[in-house]
Amino acid sequence: MIELKQLTKDYGTTLAVDNLSLSVATGEIYGFIGPNGAGKTTTIRMMGGIIEPTAGSVIIAGIDVHKEPVAAKNMIGFVPDRPFLYEKLTGMEFLKFIGDLYHVDLQDLYHKSKELLKQFSLWDWANEIIEAYSHGMKQRLIIAAALLHDPKVMVIDEPMVGLDPEAVRMVRDILKGLAAQNVTVFVSTHTLSLAEDLCDRIGVIHKGTLIAEGTVAELNLAAKTGEARLEEVFLTLVREV
Ligand SMILES: Nc1ncnc2c1ncn2[C@@H]1O[C@H](COP(=O)(O)OP(=O)(O)OP(=O)(O)O)[C@@H](O)[C@H]1O
Ligand SMILES: [Mg+2]
Repeated sequence: MIELKQLTKDYGTTLAVDNLSLSVATGEIYGFIGPNGAGKTTTIRMMGGIIEPTAGSVIIAGIDVHKEPVAAKNMIGFVPDRPFLYEKLTGMEFLKFIGDLYHVDLQDLYHKSKELLKQFSLWDWANEIIEAYSHGMKQRLIIAAALLHDPKVMVIDEPMVGLDPEAVRMVRDILKGLAAQNVTVFVSTHTLSLAEDLCDRIGVIHKGTLIAEGTVAELNLAAKTGEARLEEVFLTLVREV
């Protein structure tokens, strides 16, 4: 469902992503972890069609994101690391705005918005302006908005930053629920305990290169760390490069 082929981004001063290839199957939850500056956000921006690769390609459900950006974006629910919200809108108005952008059928839009706001515990705030929302509420609204057009693939850059434990669990359960309905999830995170719990497979990126990939057990084999927790495996893998 997701295929990155020799994906490269050279900013001139920095080779942020270097010949990265990976694939993610339908309904799989793929965790993307790596130190600060490793190239996670750059990769995710290329997947969402926000920036152009220097070389290589991103194929989503058989569609090349850079050749057919609109068709590809129809398939993708995109949650950037620093989302932009029109804060003078209410939560409900924001969902209507995003729904319009994605051509969500007007008849469905209100019901879908209501359902999502309830699912993300935001229904009581539906008619309040976003300015009045806490950070975690804004984060949940952004994820809800990304789900409005029933994407086949969710691409999420650090969804858990600033969320309280209950909200982390809520988002985790929602992502698991999506995967159970065959939505493919690609998620970057620094919350390794969560990655361990949530993801079917994990890719470790370091200095723009995929240095290891697999289940936690497979990563343990690669790092020769026995049955260690992901945090120790990660630190070992990154230290070795
Ligand atoms: N627009 C840009 N111009 C030049 N260099 C950039 C640009 N964006 C990112 N970089 C560089 O590319 C590298 C990868 O950055 P990126 O934001 O992809 O890392 P990351 O893995 O998301 O890190 P973090 O965990 O801190 O979010 C870094 O060295 C960064 O300084
Ligand atoms: Mg980042």
